This record gives sequence, C-alpha cells and structure tokens, in this order.
Amino acid sequence: MRILFVCLGNICRSPTAEGVLRQKLQRAGLADNVKVASAGTGDWHVGKPPDARSRQAALARGYDLSAQRAQQVSAEDFHRYDLILAMDHANLRDLKALRPVGARAELDLFLRRYAGALDEVPDPYYDGEQGFEQVLDLIELASDSLLNEVRGRL
Ligand code: 4NP
Repeated sequence: MRILFVCLGNICRSPTAEGVLRQKLQRAGLADNVKVASAGTGDWHVGKPPDARSRQAALARGYDLSAQRAQQVSAEDFHRYDLILAMDHANLRDLKALRPVGARAELDLFLRRYAGALDEVPDPYYDGEQGFEQVLDLIELASDSLLNEVRGRL
C-alpha cells in the first residue's frame, strides 16, 4: 500500500503527517508493508528540509523529520500511490485539477476521512508555535484511524 500526504509547501503539514504515520507503522511492525511520502502543490521549497518549527515541534513528540526533503506533487503520483490525502480544501481542489483521467489513486481530505467531524489541517506557516502544536494534535488523531484502515487493508 502506498500513501501520499499533500499540503501547499511540503515543509509543514504533510512532512509532519509523513513522519507521524511512518513512526506509527514502525511501532505496529508494518513499515515494510506501506510506503509513505509527502509532497506540496507548490514548488517554492523543493529540495528543502521541513520548516525548523515543524521539525522542532515534531521532535519534541518523538518524530524525526530531518531526513525529509520537499517535493512537488505530479500527475504521475496518481499512478504511483493508492491513497492521496490532502490537508485542506485548496490542496484538494488543486489535486483534483491535476488528477489524470483513469488515475488509480483514491483522493480525499485527510481529516474528513479519518477524524470524523474535523475538516482541514490549518496552515501553520504564518502562525506562532501554537499552530504547529495544533497540526500535530490533528495529525496524531487522524493517523490512529488511518493506521486502523491500513491494518484492515493489508
Ligand atoms: P505547508 O505550509 O503547506 O504546511 O508546508 C506552508 C509552507 C510554505 C508556504 C505556505 C504554507 N509558503 O507560502 O511558502
């Protein structure tokens, strides 16, 4: 199974989701069964590590994002991944526009699918520290439910 998380810049939200899910998969002994990656709809930060604030907030909860490098999502990703999860409505709209006809990947809003009543992971880029903590709270919550779905699918 192959899962791609997508946000705008691929330096805050989607790298955090990648790091959180990867660690949960490792702890569940499923790391070899699932490929996890992340990408941005924009290309401004391609090649850069996650934002220092995201890395710091994640590390404080035990997630090491330092090896990640930003990349831009492409139409081919709809053939490479089974599940593409957008962080907000703008990301979802951009992904729908990019999606090739006949693409295999399922596309959905991450929180809507895995955290019930919740909707978007808010962009923390222009926020203070609290925004990055909220991103982690939301992603940890939805990742538990995503992990359950992964278990069911494998
Ligand atoms: P992300 O946050 O989409 O969670 O990675 C952002 C990062 C950079 C920018 C916007 C959002 N930016 O405008 O450069």
